[in-house]
Amino acid sequence: MTDYSQQLKQTAKAMVAQGKGILAIDESFPTIEKRFKTIGIDSSEENRRAYRDLLITAPGCEEFISGMILFDETMRQSSSDGTPFPKALIERGIMPGIKVDKGAKDLAGHPDEKVTEGLDDLRDRLAEYRDLGAKFAKWRAVITIGDGIPSEGCIHANTHALARYAALCQEAGIVPMVEPEVLMDADNTIDVCYDVTEKTLTHLFSELNNQGVSIEHTILKINMVISGKQCPQQAGVDEVAEKTVKCLLATVPPSLPGIVFLSGGQSPQLATEHLNAMNASNPNLPWPLSFSYGRALQEPCLKAWEGKENNVESARNALLHREKCNSLACTGKYSSDMEE
Ligand code: 13P
Repeated sequence: MTDYSQQLKQTAKAMVAQGKGILAIDESFPTIEKRFKTIGIDSSEENRRAYRDLLITAPGCEEFISGMILFDETMRQSSSDGTPFPKALIERGIMPGIKVDKGAKDLAGHPDEKVTEGLDDLRDRLAEYRDLGAKFAKWRAVITIGDGIPSEGCIHANTHALARYAALCQEAGIVPMVEPEVLMDADNTIDVCYDVTEKTLTHLFSELNNQGVSIEHTILKINMVISGKQCPQQAGVDEVAEKTVKCLLATVPPSLPGIVFLSGGQSPQLATEHLNAMNASNPNLPWPLSFSYGRALQEPCLKAWEGKENNVESARNALLHREKCNSLACTGKYSSDMEE
């Protein structure tokens, strides 16, 4: 069997290089349709291609972005000049990543809980993605907070699947970005989010260990420890930063090469402020803390674009601005003055 350890090590390190993060543009068909609806355009194949072209070939983003997570369709599409998207990224020193899970489905016997599917044929799919240029892969598990949930069964099923996916990725020379997302849509307090995130991460690292996954060749993508959206008491920026870092220090091995956050429905500016606060107050953490945002990087860009060719330049400026702000937040050097 090929020994990919040097390659995996280099990829993981490059993903979280100082001042760089990941742009997540791997929306599935139903999700991109939902996003396009907000600007009143159809989710046609050409609209999806044109939008991803705008994001992928935006000049200057290589300064702030180490990798982009693509959806299967995007991996096989090309920019307007005919360059396949993975090639267009690699030429500018940006690593192509791929979403390999097949979505969160209802977990049998567990009302209101989900389990992520996609392990069947994953070995073959990973080999194909590697040939198409993928350097890392993402799998998102969803943990829902509610009355009496998450259950042990849900956390176990999801972390077990994440570990099996991660082992297959490493076997294929692809860095796994393991993403257990504790959703922020409920009315729970920040302390409940802390407990659920802590429990999920504890289970995750135990499962990764059981499956022989090399932690040194794995990137964690995680939610921040944050108040539920419907909770009347919203924790402030400093509390979110402090509790998130405390939870990570309690659960994540120091040998992990890096942690990136999802934005999960936070506003673009708040997602930047939270990341900045964590890095500003904790300059000596065992791992870099960076970003892998979807909505928090794309929202202003999508709004500026409106599906119109004439708006591409202003849309790219909006994207670049968010990328730059989050890049600065990776070293605690962002200030809200930059939003003017
Ligand atoms: P958001 O930042 O929009 O939560 O998306 C990131 C992502 O890739 C979720 O899987």
